[in-house]
Amino acid sequence: MLQLAQNLARLGDENAFTVLARAQALAAQGRDIINLGIGQPDFPTPPHIVEAAVKALRDGHHGYTPAIGIVPLREAVSADLRHRLNVEVDPDTIVVVPGGKVTMFFAVMMFGEEGKEIIFPDPGFPIYKSLIQYSPAKPVGLLIREENGFAFSADELLSRITPATSLIILNTPANPTGGVTPPEEIEKLVRCLERWPDVAILADEIYGQITFDGLRHASLLQYPQIRDRVILLDGWSKTYAMTGWRMGYGVWPKALVDTVRKLATNCHSCVNAATQWAGIAALEGPQDCVREMTAAFDQRRVYIAEALNAIPGMRCVLPKGAFYAFPNVSGTGWNERALAKALLEEAGVAVIAGTDFGDEGKGFIRLSSANSLENITRAVGRIGDFLSSREPAAQESV
Ligand SMILES: Cc1ncc(COP(=O)(O)O)c(C=O)c1O
Repeated sequence: MLQLAQNLARLGDENAFTVLARAQALAAQGRDIINLGIGQPDFPTPPHIVEAAVKALRDGHHGYTPAIGIVPLREAVSADLRHRLNVEVDPDTIVVVPGGKVTMFFAVMMFGEEGKEIIFPDPGFPIYKSLIQYSPAKPVGLLIREENGFAFSADELLSRITPATSLIILNTPANPTGGVTPPEEIEKLVRCLERWPDVAILADEIYGQITFDGLRHASLLQYPQIRDRVILLDGWSKTYAMTGWRMGYGVWPKALVDTVRKLATNCHSCVNAATQWAGIAALEGPQDCVREMTAAFDQRRVYIAEALNAIPGMRCVLPKGAFYAFPNVSGTGWNERALAKALLEEAGVAVIAGTDFGDEGKGFIRLSSANSLENITRAVGRIGDFLSSREPAAQESV
């Protein structure tokens, strides 16, 4: 009998991938499935980025690179951060990794010790809690409230910090809610954090360029008071429609870079070389693609929120960033898990139950707007028809 390490039993999952597999299986059986489940842009990677990778392969970039990424890529990231956020970042503190998730993994491995607590947003990206549970630290949920437009609350955060807190994970613009924490609240948050100088902060800003209504994304990297303990998580997946290329980056406090480098060397050696050259093309090339994709997400989120709000029992906050809507479905009489399951199996619409993003996602579902407006219109039509024709299933029946 194989004896697996016990902590593996505490590792969670990302149900969006399970729903994707089920949606694909149903589609393969000939069912017409509209997928609003998975969180990846429905656009192809812009051609000039693809070409840069092809050229890199033709030019012979076939070998290992430095563990933290090639210098020109880290310089390009630094220039991009200067341009977008007006911050100076030493390229030697930028660590390029295979996807945004890896920075998360490393941060939790570094700060997740026995006796420590790590604060994470609930509802939030499911991997935060999964990793904290896997580590010896205790997960402490920070409630993200619908009535607050799904923004972080500095006061609420302050009430969760204790002397045992080693790391706080913040995410704006947010998955799964589409919430954006406004600059005034971020400033308040920073003032709170100044009272706890030994706490590290993981700022997941992977949707930082996808905001609407002229809202400015305030980055935690912009505050010198906490700069020596902020880990910025960002990457190419969402901004440049590059989820399958597997590349992201972290900006780390200088004192931690060598440990991150060691983790990278032990884990994956480096990100594949051609992808790194593609990453340079993405950052240094024309940015119209980012604006065009964001404009499409903008149009879709307005439609989704309006159309969902017209369905009896549904209530949807207008998302301010990212590409998700997180409607409250408790007024329909359905439990969110039963509803998500029935929508996929019976109505042919893949969505994710709010509780897949934490206990506080109870009564909500997540819809991704990474699908065409035409498909979204059909999907929301199906959801409305389904709800008007079916009695709610028995609670907790799935
Ligand atoms: C909030 C958040 N952070 C990080 C990631 C991970 O991104 P990547 O696919 O680059 O690992 C995701 C992906 O959905 C996300 O939603």
